[in-house]
Amino acid sequence: MTQDTNKDKHKAWRPQTMMVRGGLTRSEHGETSEALYLNSGFVYDSPEEQSARMAGEKPGYIYSRYANPTVRMFEERLAALEGAEDCRATASGMAAIHTMLVAPVKPGDRIIAPRALFSSCIWILKNVMPKMGVEVTWVDGSDLADWERALSKPCRLVLIETPSNPMLDAVDIRAVADMTHAAGGELIVDNVFASPILQRPLELGADWVVYSTTKHMDGQGRTLGGAILGKTKKIEDEIQQYYRHTGPSMSPFNAWVVLKGLETLDLRVRAMSANARTIADRLAGNPKITTIRYPGRSDHPHHNVHAAQMPDGGGSLVAFAIKGGKSAAYAMLNKLGLVDISNNLGDSKSLITHPSTTTHRTLTDQERADIGLDDSWVRLSVGLEDPADIAEDLEQALG
Ligand SMILES: Cc1ncc(COP(=O)(O)O)c(C=O)c1O
Repeated sequence: MTQDTNKDKHKAWRPQTMMVRGGLTRSEHGETSEALYLNSGFVYDSPEEQSARMAGEKPGYIYSRYANPTVRMFEERLAALEGAEDCRATASGMAAIHTMLVAPVKPGDRIIAPRALFSSCIWILKNVMPKMGVEVTWVDGSDLADWERALSKPCRLVLIETPSNPMLDAVDIRAVADMTHAAGGELIVDNVFASPILQRPLELGADWVVYSTTKHMDGQGRTLGGAILGKTKKIEDEIQQYYRHTGPSMSPFNAWVVLKGLETLDLRVRAMSANARTIADRLAGNPKITTIRYPGRSDHPHHNVHAAQMPDGGGSLVAFAIKGGKSAAYAMLNKLGLVDISNNLGDSKSLITHPSTTTHRTLTDQERADIGLDDSWVRLSVGLEDPADIAEDLEQALG
């Protein structure tokens, strides 16, 4: 590695301490808060030094597309928090997922994924992978028999999202990890909805975890970012060269913002999850709502799997179907006074969206039907406001 590392120094700290101090590298000025190294390049004392660093013979930074001290602090802090050996930060969640899917594969490989995935992931699997000669097999993520059938043949990668966007479906991480390994593959978990606070896929057998740091890690609507986490050797063998030469790296400024975001991640995610639970329970009795889905409620169809994988809370997302379909859902959104209409999530401000006409509009009618999504559903990301204010706003908008 041609970058500084603090990992071993901080190994013994508990998670909350890691969130505040993990990866911290102070400059000679002894600043309290982490420094923002907003530079693209680095200078060398001599051409010999430059050549040795670029050949990987001497440690030290080379170019911020490869690595940068502020980005590195973020990567080390998140790796410590996730329990991963290492991390690469990316410019967005989709840059992380794109790199993760494309870098390791070759023509003839197979990827398996559930139909319930974020729409941009579906787009990559449908449009990019076939061009590379990679076959994609789709399954019902909650049906282990379907997984067993798909994984009875060799596969290279499996990508899952649990809880899924927007229907909050569960995939059994441990069971799918075991089947993936038996088929010779590696399991990637998009852990965006749970965050590392509520779900720890590596401990359940996953090989890789990917994030959009745009969501809970920033949590205040400022920056785009993403991350790939896994074993050091795997990152070096399968990801590193692709990452360096194709340039999906995170900007130092965004890394600095999200590094500071990690310091309060535990507090924010737990508070948002508690608020979401309160809202879900209160809305469940509302006569204008036909179905409510919240991973922490026992009436969620995949509650047992969620409860086992997310023992500390159901997360900040709630999905519900409104009587009267699209026109009733739009009418409700138009009457909101506090909750904002936005396709983002994991923010301190409560945000709501109508997935079938926004985030999931590029799916075909059949693809939406396959995941149980129709025009009556809305997806609510519960923020840090007083839950009574959020609930009252939703209730007045429902009429
Ligand atoms: C589950 C999930 N994965 C990945 C992404 C992509 O993240 P980004 O918008 O940071 O590229 C999103 C949202 O946009 C998402 O909801």
